[in-house]
Amino acid sequence: MFAEKIINWYHENGRNLPWRCTDNPYYIWLSEIILQQTRIEQGRAYYEHFITRYPTVQHLADATEEQVLKSWQGLGYYSRARNLHTAARHIAYDLHGVFPSTYKEILALKGVGRYTAAAIASFAFRLPYPVIDGNVYRLIARLYGIHTPIGTTAAQREFENLLNTLIDPVRPDLFNQAIMDFGSMQCKPTGCDCANCIFSQECTAHKHGQVALLPVKPNPPKVKERHFYYFDIRWPQPAETMLIHQRSKGDIWQGLYELPLLETDAPIPQRHLRAQALQTLTDWLGTEPATLQVGHAYTHQLTHRTIKAQFLQAKYPCQPAKMPQTLTPIYCETLKTLPISRLIDRYLSEM
Ligand code: ADE
Repeated sequence: MFAEKIINWYHENGRNLPWRCTDNPYYIWLSEIILQQTRIEQGRAYYEHFITRYPTVQHLADATEEQVLKSWQGLGYYSRARNLHTAARHIAYDLHGVFPSTYKEILALKGVGRYTAAAIASFAFRLPYPVIDGNVYRLIARLYGIHTPIGTTAAQREFENLLNTLIDPVRPDLFNQAIMDFGSMQCKPTGCDCANCIFSQECTAHKHGQVALLPVKPNPPKVKERHFYYFDIRWPQPAETMLIHQRSKGDIWQGLYELPLLETDAPIPQRHLRAQALQTLTDWLGTEPATLQVGHAYTHQLTHRTIKAQFLQAKYPCQPAKMPQTLTPIYCETLKTLPISRLIDRYLSEM
């Protein structure tokens, strides 16, 4: 009943999206990983870029990590792109280019969780695994009046068990697209039109005036601040040159390129900033610059971190004799062609 009703709604109201016109598991996988990072409109452009640039899993596997990170630039959370690349290499080289076709094997791919595995299994192989994203949690929590805080394993089990009883075993692909679209288009976080909803009669939350209270959200994580001082160090000969470094493992933006960085536990007081910057430059390069300017400051929001970034512009007459191993001179225009964070991209565009 539920399945039939929502699939009928989907036939009339569902969105026509490029990744819904295929049952190629590789394309579906790409779309789902991209859509975890961005909204549909921006996701479309990235999806088109990926399937054009890497038309098969073999093409993605054969690309360098740097190329894949560059393609991903702007989406954030770069470990998703690295996992995508690792899994593509696994499929191309270990599985002979054949995309796994069971839920369990799909779930074993790097970076693929239960949501993505269910999406690929149902859209590409018509296997009856329900997708549970934020939209589905909201719809089901309201319809059945479930108060378990979402985002916990207990909630995942509870919602999954319920959805397993609701899913259409013959049309799991349509069922899953339908519950996602219904959740995002009709059963909206706020301001939903409950009077004109196909479930207005049976919806528990609507009946009890609890639409605004459901789903129950888990406590938000504490957001910590980090203090980044980026040094834009340049000299003019033989062409405008600057120093960069590549971010290392085990931290945000792993593998991306950026400017030489001093990170501090607390903000440096404004009155000490110049002296501290000159000291850092001398530690790194053995000499003070000809000029030092305090540049733009940005607050850059990540999921669990606030990055307070201050840029400092140091000009040297020529390449300093001392150079730490971690820093590399490049021609300035080259930096934009490397994978960089949105923060560095913004600085380069606005400086
Ligand atoms: N968000 C994530 N996956 C989606 C899909 N397949 N269709 C619409 N929105 C989505």
